[in-house]
Amino acid sequence: MVREYSVRDFKDILKIEEEAFSPKNPAYDLFVYLSHSNDLLVADIGGKVVGYIAVMDMNDSSKIISFAVKKEFQGYGIGSLLLDRAIERIRLRGKRSVLLEVRVSNLRAQNLYKKKGFKVVDVIHGYYRDGESAYLMALNLFDDL
Ligand SMILES: CC(C)(COP(=O)(O)OP(=O)(O)OC[C@H]1O[C@@H](n2cnc3c(N)ncnc32)[C@H](O)[C@@H]1OP(=O)(O)O)[C@@H](O)C(=O)NCCC(=O)NCCS
Repeated sequence: MVREYSVRDFKDILKIEEEAFSPKNPAYDLFVYLSHSNDLLVADIGGKVVGYIAVMDMNDSSKIISFAVKKEFQGYGIGSLLLDRAIERIRLRGKRSVLLEVRVSNLRAQNLYKKKGFKVVDVIHGYYRDGESAYLMALNLFDDL
């Protein structure tokens, strides 16, 4: 089930985030992301949170600011489902596009985004704290109208 985040999910999300990202992001980063997100969805299996996606609205677009699935649940379509739901809700809020940054080395996430129609629109050199660059990817929500 995909549902909206509630405060009691914070610890679960923090754990998923810590496991999923390497090098690690400091916990306060996640706290800041979550408190600035306009839409935060979790994947819940029988009361257990196994993934989340956080979206921040900008003027006429929305940005995916954090997105992860618990390690042992990856590869079963949960990320795809969370992304579909988030995009659906962004579209309903009348936004024109969805943006995100992804590590150039993160081919797995890039594959998923490309399947959903995202395209690389820019490279942001040295974007991450460890110096790795990011691809800025965008999905135009009017392409399929
Ligand atoms: C990216 C992530 C959220 C995807 O979630 P997921 O539940 O594993 O993804 P899904 O099972 O829905 O897979 C969707 C697509 O991802 C890609 N994918 C999944 N597993 C993959 C693997 N082992 N190798 C390459 N691509 C893979 C495929 O394109 C797959 O589509 P397919 O099943 O039709 O082949 C998850 O892998 C994750 O949490 N990764 C670590 C954190 C991260 O990188 N977040 C994104 C930051 S921008």
